[in-house]
Amino acid sequence: MTDGSAVVASPIFAGHFTGRRVVVTGAARGIGLGIAEAFASSGAAVLLLDRDEAVVAAATDMASRGHEVSSAVVDLTDDAQVAAVFEGVRERWGALDVLVNNAGIITISEIDELSTADFARVLAVNTTAAFVATREAVPLLRAAGGGSVLNASSGQGRQGFIYTPHYAASKMGVIGMSQSLAKELAPDGIRVNCYCPGIVETEMWQYNDAEWGRRLGDYQPGELIAEWIADIPLRRPAAVSDVANLLLFLASDAGSYITGQAINVDGGMFMS
Ligand SMILES: NC(=O)c1ccc[n+]([C@@H]2O[C@H](COP(=O)([O-])OP(=O)(O)OC[C@H]3O[C@@H](n4cnc5c(N)ncnc54)[C@H](O)[C@@H]3O)[C@@H](O)[C@H]2O)c1
Repeated sequence: MTDGSAVVASPIFAGHFTGRRVVVTGAARGIGLGIAEAFASSGAAVLLLDRDEAVVAAATDMASRGHEVSSAVVDLTDDAQVAAVFEGVRERWGALDVLVNNAGIITISEIDELSTADFARVLAVNTTAAFVATREAVPLLRAAGGGSVLNASSGQGRQGFIYTPHYAASKMGVIGMSQSLAKELAPDGIRVNCYCPGIVETEMWQYNDAEWGRRLGDYQPGELIAEWIADIPLRRPAAVSDVANLLLFLASDAGSYITGQAINVDGGMFMS
């Protein structure tokens, strides 16, 4: 399984983010932890957010390696908690350069088992919480003179997979939301883009392998994911660093003409 703390950011961006302030959600583990690590090791000050208290230990570990990081435990579906976190950012930094809305959840269910509450919960984390955090961050991004918002979509932002109508809706929804906000916020110099990973072997994928595997056939653990990886043109899953390096590029000065885009980072799994 991929461990975000093992992420090595591309040396192309060494020092590039020095003096820049970055917030990453869903940063206790997996892709979010790797993104936080990549920005921090490229010079940024990074605030890691997660509902899981493991985010505190993750930030402590990064700080012990010389990174300028802090953390807060927050449920991103609670508007009041999110507003309080960004008020803390305002008091501490006065402005923000990059917001990464990475937190996400998935469940896998046949339609008869998928309750309205479960459908709404996935949309609440994957789509609505990204909007709320962006709304709270916009005054800080404006205060910085512009910035970058990076939203987690998915291969399911390109094409719905079976047994996940709520997840597909949430990940396609985040792309539409990002396009709309990209148009509204462009005059402020705020760019809004999405990243669409294919298969990244995080804890989320252990769940996916087990639950899709159980429903799609008589798969042993690891067999379904191996079958899907064999169909990826580049013949491997993504490393967390593959995703993190895309985000460094999009948030960097080199990405300054890119907004309103959803970019696949999936080894060729999807080509549109
Ligand atoms: N792993 C993949 O293959 C893959 C593929 C496509 C898209 N994605 C997307 O990338 C993002 C990261 O995925 P991952 O594999 O690292 O997932 P993960 O499950 O390993 O980590 C997600 C993190 O989000 C946090 N989180 C969830 N709900 C939250 C809430 N309400 N408030 C605060 N924190 C919350 C969790 O505690 C966890 O630390 C997600 O948006 C996911 O949908 C992942």
